[in-house]
Amino acid sequence: MKDKYILAIETSCDETSIAIVKNGHDVVAITILTQMDTHAKFGGVVPEIASRMHTENITLVLEDTLNKAGMQVSDVDAIAVTYKPGLLGSLLVGIEFAKVLSYVYNKPLIKVNHLIGHIYANAIDNKLKFPLLALVVSGGHTELVIMKDDYDFELLGSTLDDAIGEAYDKVARILGIPYPGGPGIEKLALEGTPSYDLPKPVLDNTYNFSYSGLKSYIINLVHNEKQRGNKIRQADLAASFQKTAVDELSRKTDLALKNTGIKNVIVAGGVSANKYLRSEIQKVANANNALLSIPEFKYCTDNAAMIGAAAYPLYLKQDFADYSLNAESSANIC
Ligand code: KG4
Ligand code: ZN
Repeated sequence: MKDKYILAIETSCDETSIAIVKNGHDVVAITILTQMDTHAKFGGVVPEIASRMHTENITLVLEDTLNKAGMQVSDVDAIAVTYKPGLLGSLLVGIEFAKVLSYVYNKPLIKVNHLIGHIYANAIDNKLKFPLLALVVSGGHTELVIMKDDYDFELLGSTLDDAIGEAYDKVARILGIPYPGGPGIEKLALEGTPSYDLPKPVLDNTYNFSYSGLKSYIINLVHNEKQRGNKIRQADLAASFQKTAVDELSRKTDLALKNTGIKNVIVAGGVSANKYLRSEIQKVANANNALLSIPEFKYCTDNAAMIGAAAYPLYLKQDFADYSLNAESSANIC
């Protein structure tokens, strides 16, 4: 079969990214323009600013990607775009841009779920091996999902309240670490020991998670210690939080591998960039004789290459969207 090129667009949050992906796994070119520094001044993503910046930058990001690839839009086989979940205004910038390209260049339009995109980040320079267990850990989601084949999902469990990335960001904020807090907490934790006694997230044997209790406990602890004039051992608290939060992911991933007998495990989403998480899940995989796949660091956080990878099976099925495509703010994988 002739090589297939997908031009993919991702604008669901605070990254404007466009990539050209060949045959679902080969990244020909990618540009990721992050707005992180702008939002850091406000302690988190400001939706109005995010969509405005996407609008200002998206044509430049397209031009940059095409230049890197040495290609024109007319050379690609389809246009893919993230349509959910995310910030509505931000998603709409990408969707409308994708519709215009699709219409003007007469290319099929493919709609991609951002979370499924994170899973398919594992298909870049790689092949997904089914059945697999996916641990999805991002700023908005914490889920354990079984995947029997391309686009064949079964949700085992998810967070009952906060996502793990959200907990990282909120704990970082109370410790005065700038947004996004995940990388900052990870760095600080390296200098500390997990010596704080923190409540365990959920002590049951379901596949659900809960992070709001842990987050609130830490926020209260910091406030109380400040009021008493006591010093917080910041690095120790960061290490304690990280261990408690990640150990729960490891425990439930282990449980799911044991109960299902699945031998392929993947990690997806922004928090998969965390080295402690990566090494702990590697131990779980080893203990279950399972094969672990985690995306390269640059494809862990939001990027358009993963959207191009996730669009490929839809392209093969000719599962195309029409111009009534709209943005959706919330969604699970299935
Ligand atoms: O997948 P992502 O880029 O965006 C969403 O789809 O939500 O994930 C962003 C989340 C943020 O909460 C960020 O703090 C977290 O991923 N994150 C990390 C690390 N890098 C990013 N959390 C822990 N350790 C990291 N190294
Ligand atoms: Zn994401």
